Amino acid sequence: MKKNQLVQNTIDFVKDELKNAEGGHDWFHIERVFNTSKLILKHEQGNSIIVQLAALLHDIADPKFHGGDESLGPKIAEKFLESQSVDEETNAHVVNIIKHMSFKNSLEQNGEKFTSKELQIVQDADRLDAIGAIGIARAFNYGGFKNRELYNPEIAPNLNMTKEGYKKSTAPTINHFYEKLLLLKEKMNTPTGKKLAEQRHQFMLNYLEQFYKEWNGDTE
Ligand code: ADP
Ligand code: NI
Repeated sequence: MKKNQLVQNTIDFVKDELKNAEGGHDWFHIERVFNTSKLILKHEQGNSIIVQLAALLHDIADPKFHGGDESLGPKIAEKFLESQSVDEETNAHVVNIIKHMSFKNSLEQNGEKFTSKELQIVQDADRLDAIGAIGIARAFNYGGFKNRELYNPEIAPNLNMTKEGYKKSTAPTINHFYEKLLLLKEKMNTPTGKKLAEQRHQFMLNYLEQFYKEWNGDTE
């Protein structure tokens, strides 16, 4: 099969699978990650088809919305790629990227480790979508979905981010900035990702400053 046809089939498949997904994790998130991955690829070396397939399939079944099952997404991706007669090596690489890309998995110290340039590119693109203006929108969207408070001056952000704490956190959404969003800039893998993250990071800092100003009623 031609590469363009394979990418188009994957786009169609993912769009259909995600038609009922919540706002922060819908097809448009995938499309942004796909486009940002291709942008990063212009400045970094990497296998284009693997990057594109992994970007498209990386959130095919988010464990947060599937009872915590982390194996479902990789399984669905593997089966789909088999149905497209993708060669085994490419299939295995894409599945490995999906398995190891999440922030939570990247924190795991003892688990099996896998990395590749292609993973680093897609992971950077995914992280970029969690920061900046879009990242802020996604965080509040997620918080609303979970019925969280926007901010509560009495609940200090939890900076001790353990795997357990991350999963169970019911803290206000502003806390999520300190637990994750403001840490992402330092976690960028590629020079291009780092560069793109700078501006988005600064935007979040400005946003927080304005947020507290307004909260405290001193905007004059
Ligand atoms: P992805 O799968 O795209 O890497 P996640 O599944 O970790 O990202 O989260 C999806 C979106 O929801 C991100 O923008 C993330 O910042 C946001 N999010 C995740 N957990 C929280 C939380 N506790 N509070 C607010 N936003 C959250
Ligand atoms: Ni994602």
